[in-house]
Amino acid sequence: MKNSLKEKIAEQLKRAKIEHEFIVLPEDLPSDSLSHVRYLGIAIKEAVPTILYRTEKGLIAAQRCMDSMIDEEKLKKLAGAKQLTFATKKDLEELGLESGYVPLMGLNIPYYTDRRVLELKKAYGGSGSKVFNLKISPHELVKINKAILGEFTKITTEASMKVDSKIQVYSGTRATGRLHLGNYLGAVKGYIELQQKYSCVYSVVDLHAITTPYDKDQLSQNTLNVVMDYLSAGLNTEKSFIEVQSLVPQHMELAYYLGTLYPVSRLEDLPTYKEKKAQFPKYINIGLLYYPVLMAADILLYKASLVPVGVDQEPHLEVTREIARNFNREYGETFPEPHRFATPGEYVPSLTGEGKMSKTKEGSYINLVDNKDTIKQKIARVVTDSGGPGELPKSGSVANLLKLVELFQGKETAEEYKKLYQVSGIKYQVIKSNLSEAIFKELMPIQEKRKKLEENPGEVKEMLFEHAKKLRKLAQETVDEVKEKMGFFK
Ligand code: TRP
Repeated sequence: MKNSLKEKIAEQLKRAKIEHEFIVLPEDLPSDSLSHVRYLGIAIKEAVPTILYRTEKGLIAAQRCMDSMIDEEKLKKLAGAKQLTFATKKDLEELGLESGYVPLMGLNIPYYTDRRVLELKKAYGGSGSKVFNLKISPHELVKINKAILGEFTKITTEASMKVDSKIQVYSGTRATGRLHLGNYLGAVKGYIELQQKYSCVYSVVDLHAITTPYDKDQLSQNTLNVVMDYLSAGLNTEKSFIEVQSLVPQHMELAYYLGTLYPVSRLEDLPTYKEKKAQFPKYINIGLLYYPVLMAADILLYKASLVPVGVDQEPHLEVTREIARNFNREYGETFPEPHRFATPGEYVPSLTGEGKMSKTKEGSYINLVDNKDTIKQKIARVVTDSGGPGELPKSGSVANLLKLVELFQGKETAEEYKKLYQVSGIKYQVIKSNLSEAIFKELMPIQEKRKKLEENPGEVKEMLFEHAKKLRKLAQETVDEVKEKMGFFK
């Protein structure tokens, strides 16, 4: 249905010989206009969302520049309507639309366009398809829609500021130990990619770190170490917020409020809680039970909707969604329901041939700080076979070795080796040596950057305090909203 609408629009534009462009959007891009703005790299003003309203005379569409808000009284006057409410889900369905994907044109209802739209060189908006953005001259747009022009918006810098600072992605890493290749390719590289498109907060969750036995003399340094690994790997402090969780106490405050919306029995049933209980039978504390509630508060504090984490965190995200739903139902719509974001290249195999690279599996991983000799030694220790010719092993250390080749030297090289294995046999010594070189080549700039950062930890700390200051401000907005909705004294 959606696609056919896009096709209809494409045809209509072609027939009218109107210059336009359909820009392909990633499948996983959230439907909100702000995500589109960031992805397209355009000014907020250039995004033209189309909003559907219901009046007593039927549905109408209203278009504005995204840096402004619709003044509903003015729109009512312009449309000659007595009643004006947002179109319902059912209305959208009847028009063949999925919510969030209203096209700039092509609907059989009256269009009202704010005059400021005409000030734009190009307008960007929906195409009726989730994966396409439509770029078109606003003059042509107004003509083809036979739109009624008027002034029914107010520019609020506040609106655009709010929109600008809207956080969409949140993730946290526990402050334990240093990062390895698996973390890097599995998580951090994904973070780096996400920061190009979205507004992100990446946190070192030190409040979570104390729920299991920890060393108080190491906590602060461990926290800084994770931050420095992040920065060396390419997280950009201009693009993303780097958070030290304990510097934003609003996490704990919100966790308390949210904790009243969730049953104890459900927390006791979570697999992570049970595992930790078994692992540390003398350390079963309230904080451990509260872990998922605090994690929910982490994410909801910034109203983030995407959470790049491993699949093992899915139960915690389910808790987060349930808490968000419970809150919204009890106190009114407040929180989005966040979802896990699977970053590409998530799976980095263990050097031992079983499962994935992990800190807790001796001999399975390469650290981000390993030098060339260490990498060579670790790769040399990977157990191999005769090298063919014959059928390729589907799992085990040889398969993992080839997967690493694919990750660091590209698919083509891996395919070549695989063919050789089947036809004439391969020599592991050369392959291992080349792979070690390739891995080191990728890690070298990270290690160099890390060295520079280590020379000046004061600068990193200063950045963290500065980010925390801004984040506390954003966080307080949510806490204030929550307190008000829950009816607290003010
Ligand atoms: N529980 C997560 C882990 O063990 C860490 C975490 C805490 C987190 N708060 C979060 C992850 C918020 C994502 C979002 O990996």
